Amino acid sequence: MTDMRQITIQATDIEALAEAEGRIACLIPGDGKLGTGARRLNRLTKGAVQRAVDSERFAKMKEGDLLSLAFPVGLAAEGVDLVKLDRRCDAQDARMAGGAIGRAAGTKALTVLAENGRHTEEVVLGVALRSYEFTARKSEPGETPKPAVIHCAKPEDVEAAALPRLAVAEGSLFTRDLVNEPANVLNTVEFAERLKGLSDLGVEVEVLDEAKMEELGMGAFLAVSVGSETPAQFVVMKWNGGGDEAPLALVGKGVVFDTGGISIKPSAGMESMTMDMGGAGTVAGTMRALAKRKAKANVVGLVGLVENMPDGRAYRPGDVLTSMKGDTIEVISTDAEGRLVLADVLWYAQQTFKPSGIIDLATLTGACIVALGNDNAAVFASDDAFGGKLLNAAKAEGEGAWRLPFGKPYADLIKSDIADIKNSGGRAAGTITAAEFLKCFVEDDVPWCHIDIAGVATTSKDTGLAPKGATGWGVRTLDRLVRDGFETE
Ligand code: BES
Ligand code: MN
Ligand code: ZN
Repeated sequence: MTDMRQITIQATDIEALAEAEGRIACLIPGDGKLGTGARRLNRLTKGAVQRAVDSERFAKMKEGDLLSLAFPVGLAAEGVDLVKLDRRCDAQDARMAGGAIGRAAGTKALTVLAENGRHTEEVVLGVALRSYEFTARKSEPGETPKPAVIHCAKPEDVEAAALPRLAVAEGSLFTRDLVNEPANVLNTVEFAERLKGLSDLGVEVEVLDEAKMEELGMGAFLAVSVGSETPAQFVVMKWNGGGDEAPLALVGKGVVFDTGGISIKPSAGMESMTMDMGGAGTVAGTMRALAKRKAKANVVGLVGLVENMPDGRAYRPGDVLTSMKGDTIEVISTDAEGRLVLADVLWYAQQTFKPSGIIDLATLTGACIVALGNDNAAVFASDDAFGGKLLNAAKAEGEGAWRLPFGKPYADLIKSDIADIKNSGGRAAGTITAAEFLKCFVEDDVPWCHIDIAGVATTSKDTGLAPKGATGWGVRTLDRLVRDGFETE
C-alpha cells in the first residue's frame, strides 16, 4: 500500500530548528502569544514570525488557517507555515490544522512545533491523512513523504494519544488505496489477496469461494457475479481482541466494478464505478486500524466482492433469485446489485456470528447523492440507541452523517407480485427503499445500522483531509464507535 508519512514525537528541541529541512509548521494561538518554538523561530528569522503574527492577515485568519513564509532568512527550511490554532482548540480544529500542515508540506520533510496546545494527537492524524497521494498507477510513482517530527511540551502524553490515531490513519489510507485502484488491477481475487495480508497484524482472514457460497445457498450474491470472468469472493476478517462476548459485525458492499449489468448504465461517468467497493474498503480499513492499535474488542468484518457485468450468462431483469435466508427476490434492475450481495452477507453474518450489532456500509444508491450530496452519508438505524452512538462517533470525527427515516410505507414499495420482494422500488425514495430491502435480511432483535456512502466515499475536489479521490470515509467513525462502545476496558 501507499506508504504513510512516518511521524515521530519528541520534546521541543529549539536547537534543531535552524538546520531543519523541508518545511516547519508552527502553531500560534489567536492571541498571538508565541510559544517556545515560535520564539526561537522568530529569533532565527530576525523577527519575521512576529511581523507575520502582528499582521492584519493573521488577525483575519480562522482557526486552522495557515500563513506561509517562503525561504525565510536564518533557516535551512524552504518555508515556515504559521498555523492559527487556539491552545484550547477542539479536536476537529486540531485535525483540520494538521490537514492544512500536511497539504502544505506535500512530500517534503516536516517539523511541527505543536508547543503546549491541546489535541496534538489530532494534529498528527491530520498530517498523516493529508500527506497522502495515490500515485501507484503512474509510470513514475510519487515519492514517499519524508518523515515528520512533532515537537511538543509533553511528548510521552502526546505519543500515547497519537499512536492509536496513527493506526486509524493507516487504516484510512488502506481504504483509500483500495477505493482508488482501478478494476483491472483490483479485481475480486486481488482484493481478497490484499485482505489476506491483514493476517500479518493478527486478523484471521478466511476467503469463501463460489463453490462454498453455492453450498450456503447465497443465490442473491452469486447471481450478481455470473456475468463476470472473475469469481465472487466472500471474505471474512476476524479481530478477536476482546473477551468471549459476541462480536460487532461490519458488512461491506464490494462491487469492484458496476456496469449495471444487463440494465446497463449510461457510458458517461461509468468509470467512477471503480469506487463501488467503497463499503468493503471501509470495512477493511477499519479492521486494519483495530488490529494495528490492538483494540480490546471482538469485531468481524464481512465483505462481498463481485463484479457486475453484462454477459450471455448474466442475470437479467425479471429473474427470481432465492437468497440464503430463503426469501425470493424479483430482479427489476440488475443495477440494484449491491443490495443483493448484502442480503446474503448480512444473513450469513447473523447465522454464523450472532453479533451484538451489525453495521453495513455500501455505495448503494445514486439517490443518496441527490438527497445529501457529498457531505453526509445516509444513516438508517433499527435501534435508536445504536444509531445515536454511531451518529455521535461520526460527529466527533468530523465525518458527515445524517439519519433518514424508514418503515412500513417504504417497505410496501418493494413488494413483488411474483416473489417475496423486488430489488427496486423505483425512483421515489430510492435510498430508503434500498434500506428497506436490506432490513428484510436483518432479524428484528439485532441492532443494525445501514450507511449509504455513495456520496462520501470519494471527493471530486481536494478537501482539508484528503486529496481528490477516495476519502476513507467511515474508518474514523467506526474506530471511534468501537473505542467508545465495544471495548472491554
Ligand atoms: N453503485 C450504484 C450506486 C451509486 C451511484 C454509487 C453513483 C455511487 C455513485 C448502485 O449499484 C446503483 O446502480 N444503484 C441504482 C439503484 C436503482 C437501479 C434502483 C441507482 O442508484 O440508480
Ligand atoms: Mn448498480
Ligand atoms: Zn453498485
